Amino acid sequence: MSADPKPAREAGFQELAAVVATLGSIEYQTPFLVVDLDAMERNLSRMADYFEHRPAALRPHFKHHKCTEIARMQLEAGAAGITCATSDELSAAVRAGIRDVLVANVITDRARLAEIAQCARHADVTIAVDSHPSATLASDAATRAGSLLRVVIEYDIGMRRSGVGSIPEAVELAEFVTAAPGLAFRGIQAYEGNLVGVPDRAERTASVLEAFAPMPELLRELADRGFEVDMFTGGSAATYDTAGNLPFMTDVQAGTYLLMDATYVELAPEFEPALAVVATVATARPDRPLVVDVGAKRMSTDWGEPALAGYAATYYATSEEHCRFVVSGPSLPAVGERVAVIPGHACPTVALYSTIVGVRDGRVDRLLTIDGRDQGQTTSLPPPPSA
Ligand SMILES: Cc1ncc(COP(=O)(O)O)c(C=O)c1O
Repeated sequence: MSADPKPAREAGFQELAAVVATLGSIEYQTPFLVVDLDAMERNLSRMADYFEHRPAALRPHFKHHKCTEIARMQLEAGAAGITCATSDELSAAVRAGIRDVLVANVITDRARLAEIAQCARHADVTIAVDSHPSATLASDAATRAGSLLRVVIEYDIGMRRSGVGSIPEAVELAEFVTAAPGLAFRGIQAYEGNLVGVPDRAERTASVLEAFAPMPELLRELADRGFEVDMFTGGSAATYDTAGNLPFMTDVQAGTYLLMDATYVELAPEFEPALAVVATVATARPDRPLVVDVGAKRMSTDWGEPALAGYAATYYATSEEHCRFVVSGPSLPAVGERVAVIPGHACPTVALYSTIVGVRDGRVDRLLTIDGRDQGQTTSLPPPPSA
């Protein structure tokens, strides 16, 4: 039986609401992002301590916060390197001096691969591939840049996103990668993303173990053919305690344990909610849902519902500029009052801001720049070729 996560969730939300209240009407335009630095640091230490004496290492997912200053703290606490999802995240990390990065994503856009291959001139970069074409595109980029890309073969253990679908396919692709110029075979990625949200923890654990069950056979096949596997990577903040203890796992890609969100506090209540969007109440009528000024432009609702911290409230809806909650307690926040909204999905929400306001002891302690957020090249596209 899993413990009921509700009390921990409510207590954490109350604390975040109190942190936001201490800021009063600080002159930042809402919505803005706030992190409770003490709560974030407790989360950071809790996960670092968990992996300190385990065979697998923590390789935190940078896509969660996209902030190189925070990534540095994770590395100083013992992380083996970082995990990224995009070439923008990788570039920001390498610019900030981070020298060991896994891009845990099959990237096939030539312009992005060129950027990745350039980064590999300055850092150890490992990427994921899952087909001959994706490996060939990566090989071309590395050859052109004169760099070496280390490669994990992505194996689909049930998510139905990227990944090869059988052991013979994985072995054959390992042979292809080994022969491809500019690439060095490194191992396997298997991400159990379809199981991260299983609500019951015991059920989640059992299904993660089942999903990874074919992996020892794959590793035996690779060893029999002389492949050296020095990376086996997967895992998340909701499955680190299962995937992270598999005997073959080397690098655990947990992300959301650090700032958390309204979805994750139910999945992994041992970590505290540390991130809130500060919003202002626009409409507060007893006969209608409460309306606050953060909508889809500034808060993602793609995976889980946001929560209104510090009130007995249920989520009602999000539109472009607004989020609505039905508040059932005796008091409604007043028009113009600031409230703490805990996003349902932190990672894409963070991508909508340039700064996180770090709060400690009731005041702004520092501004954390979200320097790794995805901007593509849209701000610096070269001019179109002349006719
Ligand atoms: C490839 C990959 N690894 C790991 C994660 C785990 O991240 P989190 O711990 O934030 O759920 C994700 C999440 O989307 C992912 O896509």
